[in-house]
Amino acid sequence: MVSETQQATVTRPQIRVQNAVKSFSGRVVVDIDDLMLGDQPIEGLIGPNGAGKTTLMRMIMHSTPLDSGTITLFNANGGGDVVISNLPTHWMAPHGLVKSNQVIMDFDNLTILDSMLLAVSTARYEKPYRIFDEPRLYADSVERMNEYMEYFDLGDPMRIAGSAGEKKLLDIIRCLLLEPKFLMLDEPTAGLPEEVTEKVVGLIRKLADEGTSVVIVEHDLNVIWNLCDEVHFMAEGSVVLHGSPEEIRQNSTVVEKYLGEGHV
Ligand SMILES: Nc1ncnc2c1ncn2[C@@H]1O[C@H](COP(=O)(O)OP(=O)(O)OP(=O)(O)O)[C@@H](O)[C@H]1O
Ligand SMILES: [Mg+2]
Repeated sequence: MVSETQQATVTRPQIRVQNAVKSFSGRVVVDIDDLMLGDQPIEGLIGPNGAGKTTLMRMIMHSTPLDSGTITLFNANGGGDVVISNLPTHWMAPHGLVKSNQVIMDFDNLTILDSMLLAVSTARYEKPYRIFDEPRLYADSVERMNEYMEYFDLGDPMRIAGSAGEKKLLDIIRCLLLEPKFLMLDEPTAGLPEEVTEKVVGLIRKLADEGTSVVIVEHDLNVIWNLCDEVHFMAEGSVVLHGSPEEIRQNSTVVEKYLGEGHV
């Protein structure tokens, strides 16, 4: 753990979402007035299925274009402020903003090693067949890749990731290899066994201690209550409540709209 003085000196990036609207086929699925993310090291975004959590995160990454609104990243990569809603998705990682996926769409026939290399490759490696046989790319990242492989006990990097759980972990590892300053995780522990969930939780804590802002969407509320410093509760496209985990879990709206629906 880091000391309080260390915590106070860490300048974390924040994201402000203003007047952001998204509809599909004429139905508004996200409508956010003014939302600040990243005030606290680890923030949770919870809400019932279909509340708009994934869509909101995709809007922040600009992988889902906004109908209207502005999204700003403050203190991007330790520097200035950037209106990211004007930028294409591939500009997010260079600004320190990275997101994991709820639904993993990985290449079926890529080895674990190649899948990790793909994450750290940049335009200069993107020539046919080059990425996977690029000694410098490998040399730059091998230490960190091995570290994560060992941490999650993933075994031989030359094999193809088999289970959905392994693919989920690989997705998280790919995000971490990009050294995010602001990391959004969309249900990172869904489907993982308890002991692996604990490892993911441990890694998120370490990352936040080191200065990364983390926003996590998760239906496993034990993870949210244990991990988060602040929780945003989303329902029907809007964030309707913010508070500490204690405040949120005791709130009657949350209990009625979410906990009462048998999501716990
Ligand atoms: N590409 C799309 N086209 C049409 N409708 C969509 C699209 N993406 C999302 N939606 C709809 O938008 C609403 C919000 O979906 P979203 O996936 O953001 O919810 P969520 O809060 O992440 O839910 P869950 O907890 O189940 O992952 C849902 O009604 C969904 O069906
Ligand atoms: Mg979702």
